[in-house]
Amino acid sequence: MARLGLLTGGGDAPGLNGIIEAACRVLLHHGHEILGICDGFEGVFEDRIKHIKREEIENLHSMAGTFLGTSNRSGTTGREAEFLEKWRKLKLDGVIVAGGDGTFSGLKAFQKDMPLIGVPKTIDNDLSGTEVTFGYDTACSVVADSVDALRATADAHRRVIVIEAMGRTAGWIALGGGMASYADAVLIPERPFSYEKLKAFIKERQKTQRGMVIVAAEGAHAEKESASVAFRVEDAPQAERFGGIANALARWIEKECDWEARHVVLGHLQRARAPTPTDRFLTLAMGVEAARMAMEGAWGQCTVYRQGQILRAPIADLMGPVRLVSDDHRWVKLLQSLGSFI
Ligand code: F6P
Repeated sequence: MARLGLLTGGGDAPGLNGIIEAACRVLLHHGHEILGICDGFEGVFEDRIKHIKREEIENLHSMAGTFLGTSNRSGTTGREAEFLEKWRKLKLDGVIVAGGDGTFSGLKAFQKDMPLIGVPKTIDNDLSGTEVTFGYDTACSVVADSVDALRATADAHRRVIVIEAMGRTAGWIALGGGMASYADAVLIPERPFSYEKLKAFIKERQKTQRGMVIVAAEGAHAEKESASVAFRVEDAPQAERFGGIANALARWIEKECDWEARHVVLGHLQRARAPTPTDRFLTLAMGVEAARMAMEGAWGQCTVYRQGQILRAPIADLMGPVRLVSDDHRWVKLLQSLGSFI
């Protein structure tokens, strides 16, 4: 019988509870002991640990959030010795960690001392090494539903509505959600837009449409500009929180295009919905695989999704540069074919 830890780190993503339930079901069925480490790294520093029992994890899979709690505020930088000492006191044979780039880079220093299985997580869908991350599909469905709903009021009032989606350096959520809802325009960080071209596009649509809906990723910006920083979370691995592009664009549209405009920031609603069936399939399969890997002692490996399959890969694969939307991505071309601005 092994004594295994389970930790969720970074911003929450719909599906984290699916990973927890699937992995725990397998491990408990095989008689292993599971210690849930609460609130990400803070649980290790502050000894916030709980023994997980079967009845606690049943039917978690359909809920957003994470049963274990999480944090994207604190890393391990500068506190490595303290982290290692606390980790050793837990006397764990290994740990399954569901996290994003911040979480895995925070654990990089402990590769030799900490038997680790990784599960890639972020609604942003921008982790390297895997073609998709869980939570992304749910986030896209929130964006798509919002575009569909807001189009009605935009049309009713002859307005432009600019929706701000999450996505710091990668525009996957705005792109996927915007495409699924046939948004008029999609602005993403990878494709800085030209005010001139956007204005020409809007003026053209104004001739035939009552209203229009634009989706902008929070990190989107015009050529020669950079993303607007809303505020900073000091001590966080990624301190800057982006925001403000939708409001700024709505004001610019009213002034430059003579079309009444409003903006809506979807914010954390994109992380708060019950996971879609697609995200549930993904987390069930990844959770089961992570448990199998822990039982086999496949430490230093992670689960990834590649070409329709859940595979194993070195955790280092998740720590590569952020996976961006390429210029010639097929979704970009699809939107262009629809006549949308991107
Ligand atoms: O990385 C996921 C993410 O949702 C980003 O898209 C967003 O900028 C950030 O987290 C928000 O973090 P917080 O939970 O600190 O507001």
